[in-house]
Amino acid sequence: MSHWEEKYRTKVIPWDRGAVSPALLGWLDDNELQAGRILIPGCGHGHEALELARRGFQVTALDIAPTALTHLATELHAAGVDAERVCADALTWQPAQPFDAIYEQTCLCALDPNHWAVYEQQLFAWLRPGGKLFALFMQTERAGGPPYHCAVPEMRTLFPSTRWQWPAGEPGRVGHPNGFFEFAAELTRLG
Ligand SMILES: C[S@@+](CC[C@H](N)C(=O)[O-])C[C@H]1O[C@@H](n2cnc3c(N)ncnc32)[C@H](O)[C@@H]1O
Repeated sequence: MSHWEEKYRTKVIPWDRGAVSPALLGWLDDNELQAGRILIPGCGHGHEALELARRGFQVTALDIAPTALTHLATELHAAGVDAERVCADALTWQPAQPFDAIYEQTCLCALDPNHWAVYEQQLFAWLRPGGKLFALFMQTERAGGPPYHCAVPEMRTLFPSTRWQWPAGEPGRVGHPNGFFEFAAELTRLG
């Protein structure tokens, strides 16, 4: 059993807000997210997948932990909506078609930093050119993990301006009940 599956089975999931992230609601309110094909890697219990499915998005929710996806399936069924659910490793999974958008809510910080470059390549390949990456970069200000600290300068190196267009100004700050916070940034896939 994976580390993550064990966490969901024992219900030790301090990263789970129990509700839709205010970051997603903000992007929706601002019309930054347009209905289309959207991938949510490391979706967990999938509050955001459910919200987007309710709003008519074609959602693919991916996680390595089957128990998390079972929870999401129950929530989707109760709401009378649907989303594709994929139980796979984000470091190797490949979709049949690219996506218009990706909502990346703290899957990156769950991965060992030795795998971040591969994950960036996955995110790039999953998106169509011009597609949007809605990213939440976890800030822990401490060594080790998970969750691993995603320092913004390091993120700018990981997601280079030759491959990703960054927004002007500093990323917005999103609080988290676990005491950490995230930086929110909307990146555009170039090329
Ligand atoms: C910090 S949690 C965030 C979950 C959810 N996005 C949220 O905000 O509640 C990280 C998630 O990534 C998943 N995960 C970790 N490694 C993964 C991998 N290699 N492939 C796919 N999912 C992974 C975990 O099972 C977990 O659900």
